[in-house]
Amino acid sequence: MIKIKFHGHSCFEIFSGDSNLIIDPWLSDNPLADIKPDDVKAKYILVSHGHSDHFGDALEIAKQNDGTIIAPFELATFCEQRGAAAHPMQIGGGYSFDFGHLKLTLALHGSGLIDGENIIYTGNPCGFLIQIDGKTIYHAGDTGLFGDMKLIGDKYNIDAALLPIGDNFVMGIDDAVTAVDFLKPKIAVPMHYNTFEVIKQDPNDFKIKVESKKLAEVKILQPGESVEI
Ligand code: NI
Ligand code: MN
Repeated sequence: MIKIKFHGHSCFEIFSGDSNLIIDPWLSDNPLADIKPDDVKAKYILVSHGHSDHFGDALEIAKQNDGTIIAPFELATFCEQRGAAAHPMQIGGGYSFDFGHLKLTLALHGSGLIDGENIIYTGNPCGFLIQIDGKTIYHAGDTGLFGDMKLIGDKYNIDAALLPIGDNFVMGIDDAVTAVDFLKPKIAVPMHYNTFEVIKQDPNDFKIKVESKKLAEVKILQPGESVEI
């Protein structure tokens, strides 16, 4: 049994046996977060791209837990330069960790890290395809809809797809419904909405559209809530 716990925006923890991963750990400045960085016990910190609403507290959490940040090469290198352990990867590449297998997937988005008046280049943004304990979880990161989601859906039997629906910076609801059609997950969980005014969405609209087409079951999670797969 795997537990996927939502912490607001795009942050999720995945619990499986002794393993505890956290994805896109933006907590201290996240108005929706139900926990603080100090509360996190994670051996691996997966970061999809350099934007602050995803990179968030990754460095602090990694250092506190003797954990490893897994991120695209340039972002992982940035983390190493700031004293955190990191495992660099790139899109299309997979690696077997002690928790299971992780592959980085395409994401149509940007990834610069804003540092005062400078923008630090942190490589390409990504999504995560996580195979853990016989289950497959897809966290899309920040992305627009892309046709290769169909390839991912054809090739992998996805148990849970965590998909942005906020529009403006990422997929809106209609494109996210198409993403569910392409990915064919058992469960779809909406993310990256209602944190700011510009990404205000009604997740029930997503749920009704997906479930009326019988594409998947949609689980709307409030921060602090979990789904088990
Ligand atoms: Ni972003
Ligand atoms: Mn974002």
